Amino acid sequence: MDVTEMDTSFGDDMKNDKFITLGIESSCDETSVAVLAEEDVLSNIISSQIHIHSAYGGVVPEIASRHHLENINVVLDEALREAEVALDEVDLIAVTNGPGLVGALVVGVATAKALAFSLDIPIVGVNHMHGHMEAAYVEHKELIPPFISLVISGGHTSIVKVEEHYKYKVLGETRDDAAGEAYDKVARVLGLPYPGGPHVDKLAKEGDGSKIPFKRVWLEKGTLDFSFSGIKTAVLNYVNSQKMQGLTINKADVAASFQESIIEVITKKTIDSCLEENLTSLVLAGGVASNSRLRQSLIDGATKAGIRVFIPNPSLCTDNAAMIALAGYHKYKLFGADDIDLDAISNMEISTF
Ligand code: KG4
Ligand code: ZN
Repeated sequence: MDVTEMDTSFGDDMKNDKFITLGIESSCDETSVAVLAEEDVLSNIISSQIHIHSAYGGVVPEIASRHHLENINVVLDEALREAEVALDEVDLIAVTNGPGLVGALVVGVATAKALAFSLDIPIVGVNHMHGHMEAAYVEHKELIPPFISLVISGGHTSIVKVEEHYKYKVLGETRDDAAGEAYDKVARVLGLPYPGGPHVDKLAKEGDGSKIPFKRVWLEKGTLDFSFSGIKTAVLNYVNSQKMQGLTINKADVAASFQESIIEVITKKTIDSCLEENLTSLVLAGGVASNSRLRQSLIDGATKAGIRVFIPNPSLCTDNAAMIALAGYHKYKLFGADDIDLDAISNMEISTF
């Protein structure tokens, strides 16, 4: 099992007498369990299945569920051990209950219910997207709403106004593919492994992003919505036409030019949303938020506009249970516990909690 341990030393010596939350995440291809003492991360263990699914070019739902089932108890034990917390010291169970692959979600939800029931402690279901948006709070305790959150992952691309904790207004979103999907599809065209985002990111560093003028898709004037479904076809057409003319393809230039075409649009619309809403804080959330070019472009754009950008460490951008535990802790403080019979829900809107 491939287990990643985060540096959680900032949580040392914080747990005595503090409220302990155990978070569980299993919505896609990462099995993760984290332990929090109030808002401090004591452990955040992530077991990734990426190497298993990459052989198939994408996540295979049945295989994901089986591996979650095999891994969850090992990851749970490791999270408690690293946090030096005993199960009977846990005060709250927080679990991702959607959106995601239903068979994968069910493993986390069933584990969470069994723990809450046997320990006789409260449980809260966490919307996975709220978890991504909460990730910035882990390292930035000074962050307070209102702010704009760019939620950008394999399943979502949305510009969200966080008016206060758990009060969200979607200002714009993708009308078709998520940005992460576009990265993964373009990576496949270029023959890069799954998931393609990090590989495109790396390869693009060696390329020239101004070489191929892929179209910028702005949609109608004034909208903060996105469309990424056309870019895969544009890249595919470019690659095929080069091949037919017997010309060489510089994959690094293709990767860099693809990135520029979508990052220019994402950056402009995100900064515009801050200006329109008169907000000076911007938070990045979701797997694609670990993209180095996107981070740089947003920092540059925001700095010019007098906006401060909060970006979680890359290990907190991709799926992990620390963000779920923190979102669950805040939800519990605001609204109390959920019913023990909470369900796994594969389609969940950002407004659902
Ligand atoms: O948030 P996440 O771990 O899972 C979802 O909730 O979707 O995001 C996974 C997505 C994948 O599409 C992956 O290719 C993309 O995030 N991704 C990246 C990078 N790292 C992960 N995309 C671009 N650049 C990266 N460095
Ligand atoms: Zn995610």
